[in-house]
Amino acid sequence: MPRMDAANKHDAGGSGVLRPSQICHLVIISTAFWALVFCLHSGMQGGGGMVSKLFKASALSHPKLSSSIPVSRRRPPSEQPPASVAPENRSVVAPAADHCAGRYIYMYDLPPRFNEDLVRGCRKLSPWTDMCSYLANCGMGQPLGDEGGVFSARGWFATDQFMLDVISHCRMKRYECLTGDSSLTTAVYVPFYAALDAGRYFFNSTSTRDALALDLVDWLVQRPEWRAMGGRDHFMVAGRTSWELERKADVDEEWGNKLLSFPAIRNMTALILETSPWNRSGFGNEMMQSWSSLAIPYPTYFHPETAADVVAWQDKMRKAERKWLFSFAGAPRPGSKKTIRAEIIQQCGASSRCNLFDCGSGASCYWPGGATRVFEGSDFCLEPRGDTLTRRSTFDAILAGCIPVFFHPGSAYTQYTLHFPSDPNKYSVLIMHTDVTRRNVSIEETLSKISPAAVKAMREEVIRLIPRVVYADPRATRVDFKDAFDIALEAVIDRVAKRRRSAAAGQEH
Ligand SMILES: *[C@@H]1O[C@H](CO)[C@@H](O)[C@H](O)[C@H]1NC(C)=O
Ligand SMILES: *[C@@H]1O[C@H](CO)[C@@H](O)[C@H](O)[C@H]1NC(C)=O
Ligand SMILES: *[C@@H]1O[C@H](CO)[C@@H](O)[C@H](O)[C@H]1NC(C)=O
Ligand SMILES: *[C@@H]1O[C@H](CO)[C@@H](O)[C@H](O)[C@H]1NC(C)=O
Ligand SMILES: *[C@@H]1O[C@H](CO)[C@@H](O)[C@H](O)[C@H]1NC(C)=O
Repeated sequence: MPRMDAANKHDAGGSGVLRPSQICHLVIISTAFWALVFCLHSGMQGGGGMVSKLFKASALSHPKLSSSIPVSRRRPPSEQPPASVAPENRSVVAPAADHCAGRYIYMYDLPPRFNEDLVRGCRKLSPWTDMCSYLANCGMGQPLGDEGGVFSARGWFATDQFMLDVISHCRMKRYECLTGDSSLTTAVYVPFYAALDAGRYFFNSTSTRDALALDLVDWLVQRPEWRAMGGRDHFMVAGRTSWELERKADVDEEWGNKLLSFPAIRNMTALILETSPWNRSGFGNEMMQSWSSLAIPYPTYFHPETAADVVAWQDKMRKAERKWLFSFAGAPRPGSKKTIRAEIIQQCGASSRCNLFDCGSGASCYWPGGATRVFEGSDFCLEPRGDTLTRRSTFDAILAGCIPVFFHPGSAYTQYTLHFPSDPNKYSVLIMHTDVTRRNVSIEETLSKISPAAVKAMREEVIRLIPRVVYADPRATRVDFKDAFDIALEAVIDRVAKRRRSAAAGQEH
């Protein structure tokens, strides 16, 4: 995939074997225009959009190109070449005209009560605080400076962790393959701000909490676009956890709303921050297909526009001086029996090699630079569960080149299968929480046994993950690397395409 290379070129140890896309990258650097066009095309089998991003269509219809562009990409049946083009020129024009084939998305124009009205009512979005400043800049929040060298000069914002619906909508408005033609559509995007809706009513009755989600279901199932596949080609981004969106019973004591429990919504694909831990015995494609929700990374403070910004940040993190073996940033959860934060705070506080950033006692975890500064100075970052299994902090740590230490496989391995390497040992450490609580396992001892060479290799893997876990600036018109959103969207398109093929073959998938 050519879009990845610029941000991913510092392969650890350099295996000496170049993947085809890396060869393309080198060729691109050597500025051979024709070879570039060839590379883009050969690397685009799965459907990249690079050509249209780099060149106007006119560049591609240059007559000399006719023999160098393989015309292997299928044109959607309903799409005719422009009438003004003479037959002999069609093979030249076609690849540029249909680079979206198989990637067309139809985006609903929802009534404003499902999205824009929530933004307008931002003062009432949270029982705790005024959310208005977080909605600025397409959901990235207010721009930050480099915060005394903690961040870099460009691309940092005070982003709230539950803003992905807004960020994604903004991004989709600029998606290059939007269509109004349902015969071309691969997937249908529902820009409902589910996370903002859910956040408003945590302490109200279940009927208040579920009202807008029910309203959405009623609206959706009446659309002709819905009836085509019973919503199985629809997707949405609901930037919260299943704990907040997938209530099982109608009792006020249970947390969250019922959005993801409604049968109609279960036909769709929901991209959420953490999927339900139940029923996940394994991972891989088969599991993912039977599930309506897919987990995607929490947003962090970094929203780079270009691969160059990512590479500069990766270099800074490679060079960061890491004085601490490990660190923990977070608050205790005194009432919770589920988390081992108390043990972690105790062990970290007692170790001269652990940097404790205790949000419960004075240290401000609201200053975005605070925890990141701690992570940048540590080899390992402890990521115990909080209210739920996953934490945004995991992604802040990865961004800082700090190797995450998990205490439960559900905190990452069963969640972010699209974005993380399949081998957890490559980029993280697992110390089972039961080993800490029942066997008094020492975190310091466990981590200090890992050889410096192994630490270095893991850190390099973590740093290579950075472009895959950041959400690029959604306002940018030219993002030249593959980010967390691109990866998730590809998975959605893949899944819907499979469903479509099965439906065409008369099977349910
Ligand atoms: C089509 O091809 C002819 C020659 O083959 C050329 O003169 C003409 O400019 C081409 N038209 C376009 C739109 O590229
Ligand atoms: C939700 O609960 C709050 C606090 O009890 C109350 O002020 C508000 O009116 C309730 N909202 C709705 C829509 O019922
Ligand atoms: C969900 O999908 C199934 C299978 O395609 C279909 O029978 C059902 O009607 C769909 N549900 C809704 C609410 O459209
Ligand atoms: C597991 O999945 C099956 C099929 O989707 C469902 O019937 C069952 O209720 C699920 N179990 C739990 C505990 O959620
Ligand atoms: C756990 O281990 C630490 C250090 O090895 C020791 O000081 C502490 O007393 C142990 N706690 C228990 C409950 O055994």
